[in-house]
Amino acid sequence: MSHIICVVNQKGGVGKTTTAVNLSAALAYSNCPTLLVDLDPQCNATSALGKTPLENHPLATGRPWNDSLVNSGIERLDLMPGARSLADIQALNAEDPVQTKRLRDVLAYGLSDYQYVLIDSPPSVGALTKTALTASDETLMPIQCEFFAMEGLTRMIELIRDVRNNEQRRLEFAGVVLTMVDYNLELTREVENDVRDFFGEIVFRTVIPRDVSLAEASSFGQNIFEYAPRSRAARAYRELCMEVMDRG
Ligand SMILES: Nc1ncnc2c1ncn2[C@@H]1O[C@H](COP(=O)(O)OP(=O)(O)OP(=O)(O)O)[C@@H](O)[C@H]1O
Ligand SMILES: [Mg+2]
Repeated sequence: MSHIICVVNQKGGVGKTTTAVNLSAALAYSNCPTLLVDLDPQCNATSALGKTPLENHPLATGRPWNDSLVNSGIERLDLMPGARSLADIQALNAEDPVQTKRLRDVLAYGLSDYQYVLIDSPPSVGALTKTALTASDETLMPIQCEFFAMEGLTRMIELIRDVRNNEQRRLEFAGVVLTMVDYNLELTREVENDVRDFFGEIVFRTVIPRDVSLAEASSFGQNIFEYAPRSRAARAYRELCMEVMDRG
């Protein structure tokens, strides 16, 4: 059975896409058949893998998903590309239960061959994020290690609870990963302690350091293991992958 993990945080630019892309790659390199679903109209995960967004998304057209899947160029890692038109779903179908359930059905019955499915979601608590959560078993929340790191998280936590209660979904609030960590900054330890106090043991031991090679890798359409395999960021994402796999 697949682990379906939604990468969420309503804040923009905290490392959701970077984490979704590099963790997916690490899982695939660790022999786990993995699918990355880009559910963000920005299509950053699609571009980061050097792929082109779709014109029409099967979530909107109802066409079979398998037709739109592409191999990422990495063995065992497939991609369901994003589409800019996903923004229309976001705007129009905010509370459409048919649409929110469709993704779940596709992942549960249509694409069950993958050991891991990671869903990259947009920075909002809107319809697409709800769709992503409804289809998932677990959430993985990257938190950028900065002042106000946890501001606004209450709404996200409410949405997760809401999906869990209304959709009868075993949606585990399963992992928090600190990103862009720089221990040279005075504030960093303080923010890290606050996050660990608040979330407890669901915070991964591994933290992702601030490392410019992550941004460079994406701009070349590569993951960090291709672009800078010896970098601190590559090591961190490898360790995060091991922690995710250890959690079962
Ligand atoms: N650990 C890191 N060190 C340095 N730069 C990083 C790190 N993680 C991500 N970045 C860079 O920060 C920017 C935002 O990261 P990313 O796109 O992953 O965030 P996001 O949460 O997906 O954003 P959005 O909410 O817009 O989807 C990107 O330019 C990315 O390359
Ligand atoms: Mg993103």
